[in-house]
Amino acid sequence: MSLPLAIVGHGKMGRLVEQLAPAHGFHVVARFTSANSVSLSERTLAGAATAIEFSAPSAAPDNLRRLASLGVRTVSGTTGWYDHLPEIRKSVEAARSALLYGPNFSVGVNLFFQIVARAAALLSAHPEYEAWGWEIHHSAKKDAPSGTLKKLAEEIHAAGYSGPLHLAANRAGSHTGTHEVGFDSPADTITLRHTARSREGYAHGALQAARWLQQKKGVYEFREIVSELGAAKSSP
Ligand SMILES: NC(=O)c1ccc[n+]([C@@H]2O[C@H](COP(=O)([O-])OP(=O)(O)OC[C@H]3O[C@@H](n4cnc5c(N)ncnc54)[C@H](OP(=O)(O)O)[C@@H]3O)[C@@H](O)[C@H]2O)c1
Repeated sequence: MSLPLAIVGHGKMGRLVEQLAPAHGFHVVARFTSANSVSLSERTLAGAATAIEFSAPSAAPDNLRRLASLGVRTVSGTTGWYDHLPEIRKSVEAARSALLYGPNFSVGVNLFFQIVARAAALLSAHPEYEAWGWEIHHSAKKDAPSGTLKKLAEEIHAAGYSGPLHLAANRAGSHTGTHEVGFDSPADTITLRHTARSREGYAHGALQAARWLQQKKGVYEFREIVSELGAAKSSP
């Protein structure tokens, strides 16, 4: 059965999610941008009990609080708002609603997190290696470094690596997203790189997550649930 879906943030990602929604059993009944998000209410949601949110770092906390208070289960792909996560979590739990968030809905990137964590764990035993992280995205991306690069840095530290880790970001043209982690010693360099070929992988991941979130309550991170998603529609 096709489920009604609200799109909050109807930019590059929101429009792509709308285009791919029917393949995941959703039809879009409401769209919100900066021009009309203040009108977000039970009436303007037009029957949608599920939302996918790709807006802006400054807009996401307010959108997520409102969606939680309306009991709308929400997938948020917006990055750069995670300082607000503790209060958003309280709103979601108080409303007995559901939220799934993640800095990167590409299945490949979530596998890359695990590959990098394993590499960091191995290299933590060899102090001659120093690490770096680098990313490049299109020039319209607002936050830098990306949420994905920050997450990679967290994984590297959580895996036991405690040496230097320098992060850098570039913004230019139309880059869909490249993330690189490297380890350098006096003898050699090890480089791990993920390159997204299109935005479709992110949109498919968000829609798969929205299906997964049906019947759920509470707050989840995409990374925790990625192994439960079907592989068939996850590739860009
Ligand atoms: N998790 C992932 O896999 C993933 C993948 C790609 C991107 N992202 C992130 O997703 C976010 C959006 O990316 P994008 O490329 O789609 O950006 P975009 O093309 O700039 O679109 C942003 C959209 O958000 C809308 N917006 C701004 N303020 C809003 C508000 N208060 N309420 C509702 N909508 C609002 C904008 O409306 P106006 O045009 O009216 O301003 C626009 O429609 C960014 O944070 C980006 O880093 C995450």
